[in-house]
Amino acid sequence: MLDVDSIRKDFPFIKNGRIYFDSTATSLTPDPVLNKMLEYYREYRSNVGRGIYKISQLATEEYENARKKVAGLINAKPNELVFLRNSSEGLNLVANGIGLRRGDEIVTTIQEHHSNFIIWLRAKERLGSDVKVVSCNKSGSFNLEDFDKSVTKKTKIVSVTHVSNVLGALTPIKEIAKIAHEKGSLIMVDAAQSVPHMKIDVRDLGVDFLAFSGHKMCGPTGAGGLYIKETLVENVEPLCIGGGTIDDVGVDYYKIKKGPAKFEAGTPPIAEAIGLGEAANYLSQIGMGNISDHEHRLAKMMLDGLLQIRGVRVHGPLSLENKTGIFSFNISGIDSHDVAMALDASSNIMVRSGHHCALPLMKEVLNERAGSVRASVYLYNTEEEVNTFLNALEEISKTLS
Ligand code: ALA
Repeated sequence: MLDVDSIRKDFPFIKNGRIYFDSTATSLTPDPVLNKMLEYYREYRSNVGRGIYKISQLATEEYENARKKVAGLINAKPNELVFLRNSSEGLNLVANGIGLRRGDEIVTTIQEHHSNFIIWLRAKERLGSDVKVVSCNKSGSFNLEDFDKSVTKKTKIVSVTHVSNVLGALTPIKEIAKIAHEKGSLIMVDAAQSVPHMKIDVRDLGVDFLAFSGHKMCGPTGAGGLYIKETLVENVEPLCIGGGTIDDVGVDYYKIKKGPAKFEAGTPPIAEAIGLGEAANYLSQIGMGNISDHEHRLAKMMLDGLLQIRGVRVHGPLSLENKTGIFSFNISGIDSHDVAMALDASSNIMVRSGHHCALPLMKEVLNERAGSVRASVYLYNTEEEVNTFLNALEEISKTLS
C-alpha cells in the first residue's frame, strides 16, 4: 500500500484544495527531484563530457548516473538509453533514423497520439512509404489478426502506443512485437503513458525502440528517454549532430561516436536529465507495482462512479482488466470544455478537455469530433479527491445539461 499522505507532502503544488487529475498531460514534480536539480545549479554547474576539471567530471558523473537510473527503471542497459527532450523527439528520431525508403511499409494504429502518427504520414508524403493503420473497436481493443494481416515482409517498422492517452487502454505489446519480428520488422513503442505508471521491462516486452517523457513521470520538463536495443544503436542515424557526437573531424570528413552520445548533440539539458534520474529513483523507491495498485484502486472508484452519473458516456474499456487510470467521457448535451471549466470553477479540479492530440481516434472510432473530458490519476491522488470529483460532476450534469 502507498503512504499517500506522506507522498503528497513531497509535492509542493498540492495545496489550497487543488485537485490535479491531468497527470496524463504532465505530472507534478516532487521536492527530491527539484532539490536534485538545484544541487546541480548550486554545487557543480558545469558542462558534461568536456571539461577535465573536477567539477565538470562530477557533473558528468551525475549525468551518467542519471542515465543508469533511468535505464534501470525499464531494465535497459545504460548504453541503450538516449536522453532527449520528450517522447515526440524519440519517435521522430527513429522515424528519421532507420533509413526508410520508397516501398517500405509502416504499421501503426488509429489510437496513436499525433506524435506517433503524423511522423509516418510525413514519411508517406516525403518518401512514398506505405502507411497501414490498424483500427480498434470502441472499447479500445485491437484484434491481433489485424496486425498479423497488416504486417508483411515489406514492413520496416511497427509503431504503437503502449497505453492510449485518451482511453487508458493497454495494447498487447508482447504479442505485436512477436508478429513484427516474425515478419522481419522493427517495433517501436510510444510508452509515454506506461513508463510513469507501471513496471516496464523492455527485454520482456521484446521491443526495439521505446520512447517516454520525463515530465509525465515526476521529472522536469525538457528531458525524456529513448530506449534503442543495443544491437541497433549503430544502425540508427542521429536526428541532429554537433558537439559531443563526434570522435574525429577533419577538413573534409567527420566520424560519429558510438553509443548514446551520438544522439545527444550540443550541451544537453543537464539539470533536467539529472532531475529525471532522481525521478526514476523516486518512483523505484516507492515501487512501480505499488503505484499501479494504488492507481487501480482509484480507477475502480472512478469507473464505478462515472457509470452511475446520468448522461455520462465513458469511452474505452468498461472494465479495468486492460486499462490504466485514464478516463475519457462526455456528458450528453454539454461541451467538454464547459465541463472542464465548471470542474475548475466549482471545485479546483484540473482535467483536460478537447481532442487530446488524438484526432484520428476521436473522429473515426469515438465519433466525438468536438472532444471529450479526460481525468487521470497518479500516485499522489486520493480516494477523497475521486469522491469530490464525482460529486462535482454529478452536480454539473444536473445543472448544465
Ligand atoms: N500527450 C499529452 C496528453 O495526452 C500532452 O495530454
